[in-house]
Amino acid sequence: MTLSFLYPLLRSGLMCLDAETAHALTLKALRMPLPLGSGIIEHEKLKMILWDRVFPNPVGLAAGFDKNAESIQGLFKIGFGFLEVGTVTPRPQEGNPRPRVFRGAKNYAVINRMGFPNEGVARFKENFSHYLSQKPRPKGLVGINIGMNKDQTDPAKDYCDLIRTIGSMADYLTINISSPNTPGLRNLQDPEFLRPLLQMILDERTKSCGSSFPPPILVKLAPDLSEDQLEKIAETLVNSKIDGVILTNTTLLRPDYLPENFSAERGGLSGRPLKDLSTATIRRFYALTHGKIPIIGVGGIESGEDAYDKICAGASLVQLYTGLIYHGPDLIGHINRKLLDLCARDGYDHISQAVGRDH
Ligand SMILES: Cc1cc2nc3c(=O)[nH]c(=O)nc-3n(C[C@H](O)[C@H](O)[C@H](O)COP(=O)(O)O)c2cc1C
Repeated sequence: MTLSFLYPLLRSGLMCLDAETAHALTLKALRMPLPLGSGIIEHEKLKMILWDRVFPNPVGLAAGFDKNAESIQGLFKIGFGFLEVGTVTPRPQEGNPRPRVFRGAKNYAVINRMGFPNEGVARFKENFSHYLSQKPRPKGLVGINIGMNKDQTDPAKDYCDLIRTIGSMADYLTINISSPNTPGLRNLQDPEFLRPLLQMILDERTKSCGSSFPPPILVKLAPDLSEDQLEKIAETLVNSKIDGVILTNTTLLRPDYLPENFSAERGGLSGRPLKDLSTATIRRFYALTHGKIPIIGVGGIESGEDAYDKICAGASLVQLYTGLIYHGPDLIGHINRKLLDLCARDGYDHISQAVGRDH
């Protein structure tokens, strides 16, 4: 019997707990020798090759779920093709006071204002090294999402320190400049700051990770950018020769239909209410860059259809977080199976043929 079989029962228990307590218990369960699922889902038609790396399937876990890289083995057991761990900062930090994560169950949504609580890069490196030392290791890939400490006044220093310390361990690196809960972070998306920041980051990668097989560098953006801002950022990313982009982080918007007490919480909104906004951002970015920069699409994915919509809009891979809270570990298998059905329906031999189809 797998954990996913028991999930409907577990879910009602977890939903009675404060969201962060439930999350801590889930991470702990993922570290136990439990029959969590049947492992990474592999299928020739779903295997994606990007940046010379093989993703067994295109469905990944979004950043923020395993901030300290402590439950990687368990997360692969539930089927993901890749995981993004972090956000990690150079020094440990506590984040904002609790409560800071709120469920909007009626709308399959979450608002969080965590502010990058994490144990810092030294501890992260120990955990990640422990994972890398295990043999055999799952075939899935692991990206690392990096961010700056709240009190850092020179962002480039933190990003470069992190690349120096853990860059060469990652299958890809994500530069997080879009979490809404670190003051000033989103300002780094302004091309005036972004251009020199990316140059320093790319130089640091060459210095620290060599030039033979360095990790691709991806930038994660907010969904709350104007048309004009997105256009300028897209141009900056193309000119900087950045390897990829993650669209999107959580939104500061609050659709009218959300219950007032939920809507009033400060922080970033994720889940179903973010879905169309993030898909629209993917579509626009793909059009602006003529598909030249690979996109990882994230925001409100709860089904194979949702994932396929993002792929057709231009995403080569997808990620999710909030959907896992409401639908449990079976969701990963459901999405992959549905992607195969949708490929067959549309006459594709491989999922990559659907990437950017809307254009
Ligand atoms: C509780 C919570 C914590 C998050 N922490 C991070 C984080 O540390 N770094 C990051 O880049 N994104 C973080 N995110 C954003 C997710 O990675 C993702 O971009 C966003 O939630 C949209 O996807 P979803 O609708 O599938 O959740 C967090 C999201 C949630 C709900």
